[in-house]
Amino acid sequence: MKKRAVLLALLAFVIATVAGCQKDDDNNSSSGEKEFELLAGTFSVYDESPNAFGHAGDHLSSQNELDFFVGNSFFNQNWVMFGASTTARDGLGPTFNARSCSGCHFKDGRGRLPDYFGETTSGFLVRLSVPGEGDDGSPLPEPIYGDQFQNQSIQDSVPYEGSVRISFETVTGQYPDGTAYSLRKPVCSFEGLAFGPMDPNTLTSIRVANQMIGMGLLDAIPEADLLAYVDETDADGDGVSGRPNYVWNIAENTQTLGRFGWKANMPDVLQQVAGAFHGDIGITSYLFPSNNCPDPQNSCQGAALDSLGPEIDDDDLQKVVLYSSTLAVPVRRNYKDDDVVAGRKLFKKAGCISCHVETFTTGTHPTIPELSNIEIHPYTDLLLHDMGEGLSDNRPDYLATGLEWRTPPLWGVGLIEVVNGHSTFLHDGRARNLEEAILWHGGEAQNAKDYFMQLNATKRSQIIAFLNSL
Ligand code: HEC
Ligand code: HEC
Repeated sequence: MKKRAVLLALLAFVIATVAGCQKDDDNNSSSGEKEFELLAGTFSVYDESPNAFGHAGDHLSSQNELDFFVGNSFFNQNWVMFGASTTARDGLGPTFNARSCSGCHFKDGRGRLPDYFGETTSGFLVRLSVPGEGDDGSPLPEPIYGDQFQNQSIQDSVPYEGSVRISFETVTGQYPDGTAYSLRKPVCSFEGLAFGPMDPNTLTSIRVANQMIGMGLLDAIPEADLLAYVDETDADGDGVSGRPNYVWNIAENTQTLGRFGWKANMPDVLQQVAGAFHGDIGITSYLFPSNNCPDPQNSCQGAALDSLGPEIDDDDLQKVVLYSSTLAVPVRRNYKDDDVVAGRKLFKKAGCISCHVETFTTGTHPTIPELSNIEIHPYTDLLLHDMGEGLSDNRPDYLATGLEWRTPPLWGVGLIEVVNGHSTFLHDGRARNLEEAILWHGGEAQNAKDYFMQLNATKRSQIIAFLNSL
C-alpha cells in the first residue's frame, strides 16, 4: 500500500513538472501568440491552399449550410442576357463589368489591375462622379456614364460605355539606410467613349475587389465598439484621428454607419451585394429595381426590361448575402516563428494597430446567429483615415474626402498570392507587394511609416513576415 502511495506521489510530481514545463513553454518568446492563431475563433478554417478563402464557417445550421452552397453557385456562375435561355440566371446587363461575382473576386479573393489594355475582367472597376452630392449624401453620378464605368454590354445593339486604359507613373524614394525603392501609381483614361466626352469635372476612383472572408463578422461588430476608436480632433495627440462614414442605407431608408468598400461607402453586406449585382453585373433586385442606364443611353434603357420586376428574387439575393457573410477566415501560418513574433511586436510599436485594430468581439448578428459573440482579430477599425496626397483619389464618397480611406482588414493578406496568383494591394492595386503597401502610407499613418522606414532591413522583413502570417 505504502509503495503504491509513493508511486502515486511520484506520478503526481512528474505530471506537475510536465505541466509546469508546458506553462514555461507558453512563457517563452511566443507567449500569448496562441490566441492569435485563430483570427476568427470558431469561424476560422485550416487551409492554406488556393481554396483557402472558399470555406463556409464551421457550425453553420444545416439550413444555412444548404443556402451557403446555393449562394456559392450564384456567386460563381455566369449570368446570361435576358431571354437567352430559360434560367434563373438571366438578366445580365444591358451594360456590365463582369458576368459573375467570381469574375472579380476570383476564388473569393482579390482583384488586380489589368495586365494589358482590353483585358475584360481582372477584378477592378472605376467609380465616376461629378462634384457635389445627392439628397442622400451620395456622390453625384456623371450625367452620361453614371456612377460606374461599364466596359461591357450584352450585344452590339447596346453600346458598352468604352474602355479603360491604365498607365503608371513612377514614384521613387529611399530608406534612411540608403536603400532605394520605386513605386507605381496608376492613372486611368477612357477610350472609345460611346456617348461622347465625359463632363470635364469628372472625378474617378480606381478600385480593386477585396477578398471576401469574414464579412459577416465585420458586419456584426457592435457600432459602439467601432465608434469608440473615433478621435476626429486627435484629442489623444497620437497623429491618428479616424472618423466614421455615414452612408445611405436603402433598406432602412436613412443614413447608417458605412463598413464596406474602400471608403466604407456601403452600410452592410446586404446592400454591398445588391449594389454589386446592380452596378457590376447589371442584375436588378428589390433594393436596386432599375438597371443602370443613364439618360442618353437609349438602347440600354430599351433592353433593360425593368418593368418585369427584379432579375434576382429576394430569396436568391438572401442566399448570396448569406454566402458572402459566412466565408471563414484562414488560420495564421507560422505564427510562432521568431521573426513573425518579433514582427507582431514591431507592428504594435510602429503604431500600425492605431488603425489596424487587433481585436473585437462580435455582437448579435441580426439574421445569422452563428456569427454572434466571436472574438476576432481583423486588424481594422473600419474607420476613415486621411492617408495623405499620395493615395488620394480626389473623389469624395459620402463623408469620405478624396484623402480618406477605410482601414482594410488585414486577415488573408498573406494568402492573396497563393489564392490569386498576384500580390498587389491597396484600393487601386498599385502596391506590388506588402512592403510597397506600407511605403504608400502617409497622412495619419506618416508616423507609422516613418517608424517602419527607420528600422533596419531585418526588422522591416519581420513586419512583412508578420503580415504574411495573416
Ligand atoms: C467588376 C468587378 C466586381 C464584381 C463583378 C463584383 N465585385 Fe464585389 N467588389 C468589387 C470592388 C472594386 C469592390 C470595392 C468597392 C468599393 O470600394 O467601392 C468590391 C467590394 C465587395 C464587397 C465588400 C468588401 C469589403 O471588404 O468591404 C463585397 C462583400 C462584395 N464586393 C461582394 C460581391 C458580390 C456578392 C458580387 C456579385 C454579385 C460582387 N462583389 C461582384 C469588384 C467587383
Ligand atoms: C492611420 C491609419 C493607419 C495606420 C497607422 C496604418 N495603416 Fe495600413 N492602411 C490604412 C488604410 C486606410 C489603408 C488602405 C489605403 C488604400 O487602400 O489606399 C491601409 C492599407 C494597408 C495595407 C494593404 C492592405 C490591403 O488590403 O490592400 C497593409 C499591408 C497595411 N496597411 C499595413 C500597415 C502597416 C504594417 C502599418 C504600420 C507600419 C500600417 N498599415 C499603419 C490605415 C493605416
